[in-house]
Amino acid sequence: MQAEKQPRKQDKIMNRNKRSQNMKRHRIPFNRPSFAGSELDYISEAIANGHISGDGPFTKRCQAILEEVLSCHKALLVTSCTHALEMAAMLLDLQLGDEVIVPSFAYVSTVNAFVLRGARPLFIDIRRDTLNMDETQLERLITPRTRAIVPVHYAGVGCEMDTILEIAGRHGIAVVEDNALGLFGKYRGKHLGTFGCLAAQSFHETKGVICGEGGALLINDPDYIARAEIIREKGTDRSRFFRGEVDKYTWIDLGSSFLPSDLLAAFLCAQLEAGNTIQEKRKRIWEYYRRHLDGWAAERGVRLPQVPPHCEQPYHMFYILLPSLRTRQALIKHLLARSILSVFHYLPLHLSEMGKRFGGRKGDCPLTEEISDRLLRLPFFNDLTEEDQASVVEAIVDFTWD
Ligand SMILES: Cc1ncc(COP(=O)(O)O)c(C=O)c1O
Repeated sequence: MQAEKQPRKQDKIMNRNKRSQNMKRHRIPFNRPSFAGSELDYISEAIANGHISGDGPFTKRCQAILEEVLSCHKALLVTSCTHALEMAAMLLDLQLGDEVIVPSFAYVSTVNAFVLRGARPLFIDIRRDTLNMDETQLERLITPRTRAIVPVHYAGVGCEMDTILEIAGRHGIAVVEDNALGLFGKYRGKHLGTFGCLAAQSFHETKGVICGEGGALLINDPDYIARAEIIREKGTDRSRFFRGEVDKYTWIDLGSSFLPSDLLAAFLCAQLEAGNTIQEKRKRIWEYYRRHLDGWAAERGVRLPQVPPHCEQPYHMFYILLPSLRTRQALIKHLLARSILSVFHYLPLHLSEMGKRFGGRKGDCPLTEEISDRLLRLPFFNDLTEEDQASVVEAIVDFTWD
């Protein structure tokens, strides 16, 4: 008689994860970390390797995958996208009073990383179609002190990089892409994250490819590689020492500890290797929402995401734009009553406490202010089932307002 197949340790942990998530407040959560399959095996391998600090074999494997798949000069794994942005700001040698143009419709780290170095943020509004930086407003914000433009590829849909690069090039300004949401996305056939001299990726658990907390700095201008290695290693030339290029390592420059443990890199490696499968799942989820909400949205004056034909999106999220703040809040409540968690973001940065300290006032970025009130993100994670998606859709189309 054949022995009954023992459930794998990984499957047991995954089921426990689902059960404990389900016991949390929502029947359908907004996000649940999903597993590719070999995470635990790889973590065991990292332990067996005897190298669990940074820059071990799995870190190198992850970096090689990113460099190959995205075609970038150099990828350095770091502890978060926030830290990748902070490294970018250090690499640009920003000085007190330098200016950086950032969208107001963005995450705190997008701007904070540059403010930490003494830069002054100038907030730019967004386009109505993609909710990306409105590149037509760039020229009027540029001054002799502008050192960087930071496009955020919202929902992984590419910003208008041709125009942004042309303007930045003409004024000698660096472009740093915040590609936290755009891994595997493309603009005119080229991967997001490979346009600016530097770009930042996120592997936070709310993203498609994850390791809990993690990120990568993509370096497209090779002149930044040597210094980036130093900044990432506490301001020392330890990377060169480990490669045998110097016989001791010492303090060379500014820096901090931006390396993730190889245990996290092992987790990430499993996810990166399953990149295609993850993308297929996310595409299926995104298309399901679009297919089942199209008619309802058109009827009720709700807008669904728009992806220009020259952009390939990585299916990072599905959002809807309700007619007003009141309907958005009412829909959140309506979904919560069915134990479905939907969320919104971003709060306009120019109107935040810090934003106001830099002179931000109501009306500076009118579209950001409007969209921030109307946008709602639906549950979206790799293992979201069609059954749960059907419940979400059913709850949404049941929602009425006058
Ligand atoms: C546009 C953007 N940039 C940066 C980040 C920060 O990413 P991390 O949590 O990896 O630091 C986020 C977080 O979601 C984000 O949305």
